[in-house]
Amino acid sequence: MKDPNRSMLVREGLRPFFLDERGLHLLDQRALPHEERWHTFTELEDVAQAIETLAVRGAPAIGGAAALGMVLAARQGHDLEGADRRLRATRPTAKNLFAALDEVKAAWSAAAPAARLAAVVDAAERHVLADEAACAAMGAHGAALIADGDVVITICHSGALATCGIGTGLGVVKSAHAQGKRVRVVALETRPLLQGARLTAWECLREGIPVTLITDGMSAFAVERLGVTRAVVGADRIARDGSTANKIGTRTLATVCAAARVPFHVAAPMSTFDTTIAQGVDIPIEERAADEVRGARGTPIAPHDVPVWNPSFDVTPPGLVTSFITERGVLTPPF
Ligand code: MRU
Repeated sequence: MKDPNRSMLVREGLRPFFLDERGLHLLDQRALPHEERWHTFTELEDVAQAIETLAVRGAPAIGGAAALGMVLAARQGHDLEGADRRLRATRPTAKNLFAALDEVKAAWSAAAPAARLAAVVDAAERHVLADEAACAAMGAHGAALIADGDVVITICHSGALATCGIGTGLGVVKSAHAQGKRVRVVALETRPLLQGARLTAWECLREGIPVTLITDGMSAFAVERLGVTRAVVGADRIARDGSTANKIGTRTLATVCAAARVPFHVAAPMSTFDTTIAQGVDIPIEERAADEVRGARGTPIAPHDVPVWNPSFDVTPPGLVTSFITERGVLTPPF
């Protein structure tokens, strides 16, 4: 039998977490880019809170963290049903969270009690390695769409820290860059939690990819004046008709791109596709705390009691999406 304390995702380069015999080591994305703060977790509850508070975020990374959280619970001999329920309650939108937990749960449910730890560890390892491979395949398929000289606009952060591999949307850009294509990125800052300003800008600079940061409201003017040729974004959940939930502001960007006849691509692994949901209106959308909008990074801006609406995601209709870049190739609906 393989060692249940074995390590996973211990490798060079940017990654949101790795597992070894001491626990789950997780890079706190809330502190980036100014501080690289790592936590070591042995308790499932710490992993659940890291997901809820966006210390780890990005749909595939949430799925990977949940799978490895189940490994911690199994190593400790905790009640796996309770652990699974706790993780499912962390964030509602990213399908990858539920896909990862479904895979781990199916493996332990099918195992004899004495084989449960090994089953959970094996299933979690399969999940994170499959995501790493899916990112590489999306990078290869997507890079073929990118032309030398492309100016790619993106929102939120869909790079390495959002996945178990090189990334989804930003992974495509990184793959094209690695092939020697000259690509420039225009990054929307992504209010209210600024994943674009903090993480996409930082990852592009680390990779040597030219990047220009803009505020979300600049997208229409930037598409015209910065010569944007293409948009590539990630996704949190995709319905059967191709309706795509992604970070709030994605739909605005897709609308801007459609008006300017700029191709708009969604890069996502199959674990983001939800075959149980027919259309976008049925995708559960997370609403977050009002103070995220009333202020910025803990600094109050708006009146402290102004009513706020803070959906974390929006849904882009399939008609605004040129194509979906997946590990199985470039798809268009119906899938
Ligand atoms: O709230 P977040 O930071 O988890 O939202 C992340 C996004 O919306 C990403 O664009 C999406 O998960 C794709 S990441 C590969």
